[in-house]
Amino acid sequence: MSATDAPTRPSEAPTEDTVAELRRARQQIAALEQLLEVHEQASIEQASRLEQSNRELDQFAYVASHDLKAPLRGIANLAQWLEEDLGDKVSGESREHLTLLRGRVDRMEALIEGILAYSRAGRVREDAECVDTGKLIAAVVDLLAPPANVTIAVQPRLPSLVTERMPLQQVFMNLIGNAIKHCRNASPTVTVAAEETGDMVHFSVADNGPGIAPQFHERIWQIFQTLAPRDEIEGTGIGLSVVRKLVETRGGRAWVESQVGQGSTFHFTWPLRPRTNP
Ligand SMILES: Nc1ncnc2c1ncn2[C@@H]1O[C@H](COP(=O)(O)OP(=O)(O)O)[C@@H](O)[C@H]1O
Ligand SMILES: [Mg+2]
Repeated sequence: MSATDAPTRPSEAPTEDTVAELRRARQQIAALEQLLEVHEQASIEQASRLEQSNRELDQFAYVASHDLKAPLRGIANLAQWLEEDLGDKVSGESREHLTLLRGRVDRMEALIEGILAYSRAGRVREDAECVDTGKLIAAVVDLLAPPANVTIAVQPRLPSLVTERMPLQQVFMNLIGNAIKHCRNASPTVTVAAEETGDMVHFSVADNGPGIAPQFHERIWQIFQTLAPRDEIEGTGIGLSVVRKLVETRGGRAWVESQVGQGSTFHFTWPLRPRTNP
């Protein structure tokens, strides 16, 4: 250490200059503390405003989609009556148009149901209960009733969680449902596995379907995004956005790993026990 770097011993009595400097430093610290407090307060307020606006948006989606259901049912009924009234008088082309009309009404109904599910994912919470995920997945597969050529391989001895049953069931319904629906393989195989990692369980749903190009790995989680035209594979593009919302509001993460032609593996984490502050 050079002589100039050596610390100088403070003199016994502080000089007026050091006192003034100390005072200034204290004032600066106080001002910084005040600034920090203002920032903290602002970010707390911003978070609560964001939460409020998300709640309002979910509420809006709920009311709007609920109110859209009645007139849509009306259109469906009118189309059916028209078809019945016209009977044999209707030409082949008009009959085709009426069938298309019914198809569009069904699509619109599916969209409304999807928006309702999306709004519910953020609004509705239920009590936690003990859920045996092996049994839950078996029930999901039962509900989906896959065609006979589909193989569903579920890892034995899946964990039991203390959690809300319905949202977890909905996540599996969407992921296993997608693996079956989007699989263009002649012998579709879906593999479900789980691994405990700390206070979370890491689930995966893998398929031998067409796979997803990396540039779409984020886009597919956005609402209304589908990769194939709706007339090719009927879908709303809502399922994965609901999955992500359900998973993230419960403290987990959801992502996909895939390459075109090599199938897809959808991953998500889910807490073993309810979070005190989800
Ligand atoms: N297992 C899968 N294999 C291939 N593509 C998939 C798979 N799951 C989802 N996708 C793609 O992601 C899109 C979004 O999925 P989703 O939100 O569930 O909508 P939907 O199933 O109604 O089309 C799908 O349209 C499809 O293109
Ligand atoms: Mg889907």
